Amino acid sequence: MKPERGPLRVALLGCGVVGSEVVRLLREQAADLTARVGVPLEVAGIAVRRLDRVREGIDPALLTTDAQALVTRDDVDLVVEVIGGIEPARSLMLEAMKAGKSVITANKALLAEDGETLFAAARECGADLYYEAAVAGAIPLLRPLRESLVGDHVHRVLGIVNGTTNYILDQMDTHGAGFNDALEEAQALGFAEADPTADVEGFDAAAKAAILAQLAFHTPVTAADVHREGITEVTAADVAGAEEMDSVVKLLAICERVPAEDGRNGGRGVSVRVYPAMIPRSHPLASVRGAYNAVFVEAESAGPLMFYGAGAGGAPTASAILGDLVAVARNLVAGSRGPVEVTYAKLPVLPMGETITRYYVQLDVADRSGVLAAVAEEFARHEVSIQAVRQEGLGDDAQLVVVTHRAPDAALSATVERLRKLDIVREVASVMRVEGED
Ligand code: HSE
Repeated sequence: MKPERGPLRVALLGCGVVGSEVVRLLREQAADLTARVGVPLEVAGIAVRRLDRVREGIDPALLTTDAQALVTRDDVDLVVEVIGGIEPARSLMLEAMKAGKSVITANKALLAEDGETLFAAARECGADLYYEAAVAGAIPLLRPLRESLVGDHVHRVLGIVNGTTNYILDQMDTHGAGFNDALEEAQALGFAEADPTADVEGFDAAAKAAILAQLAFHTPVTAADVHREGITEVTAADVAGAEEMDSVVKLLAICERVPAEDGRNGGRGVSVRVYPAMIPRSHPLASVRGAYNAVFVEAESAGPLMFYGAGAGGAPTASAILGDLVAVARNLVAGSRGPVEVTYAKLPVLPMGETITRYYVQLDVADRSGVLAAVAEEFARHEVSIQAVRQEGLGDDAQLVVVTHRAPDAALSATVERLRKLDIVREVASVMRVEGED
């Protein structure tokens, strides 16, 4: 007869907003969690930087500043890492796995910079590595990619994965606010950090895009591979231009498989990028308001799928961590393992210039004969096909809006550079990529 298994003991690294919420849920939902896992889940210890802070609802006897000793303790079965950053988080997780512990982490920066090392350690040590909370908070997204869709062929992942920037762009769209006013409001309401760089410059979204691309395409992608543009340059004119196109500006994380010219399976590589772009109001992502996140996945057999919900915050993030905890604990009870990551595809990440996109370009031009032809000539010179042109007279000047067909990004940006140099162009008032229409 199989011996009865005792409680499973959890070491927690970090006790901030998310960590303390995890402890609260483990305590308050203990009976349900025990029933779902088959054995109780107990907190064995909590590694913190300082012992002298009062932590409501946390037994001080559980606290330690020696994280390294905690993760290798014999009475610890699994480790939850919520300290973030690269070090010491990476070393601690590697030590834990080497000591046979399974690991649950919310660490997007580390997974995006060095996921390969963690995946390899999990494979070699026979440990589980779960990280649902690393991308889009509470939204079940990584488990569907790692498990439900692992038999399918994902073509594209298109997502709003940063709540702060979505809140700011939504305010700009709804109230006509400028970027700085919308940012100040987001900070006052606690949506944006005092130093908003990671969010508004797109670093946070780029890390998430790297993780999504690794899982979607089974290929190594790091944050450094991701083309990144933030939203600090988005103007009220860009947002008004989108409005006239019945579109909306969103910061998008886009992971795309680029097919080979002969259509061979596997393709030429992948394109992974983050930038503000116009999407039509009819697209499901256009209706994502406030600080919510949503991710649209297109797979060969499954077709289009949409995942929506809260992308940040203590409770939503703790929900994702608890889900992982129960999954790992069930595996331990059953003597089995969860999915292992194998980034076997080794697809090249293509440079942004080779990515096929569409542009919206708004120009203030002199209103006289030959101007439209001169502008069209620059697009033709770079083999960029124009889809639509709209012109509105403004006295001696005119406003010209050009929307292109799909073309390599290098050709589109070279066209815009040439337009900036033309005498007849008073100003290139707005340039924005157009996504979500094929
Ligand atoms: N700062 C992020 C956001 C949440 O605004 O969505 C953490 O990734």
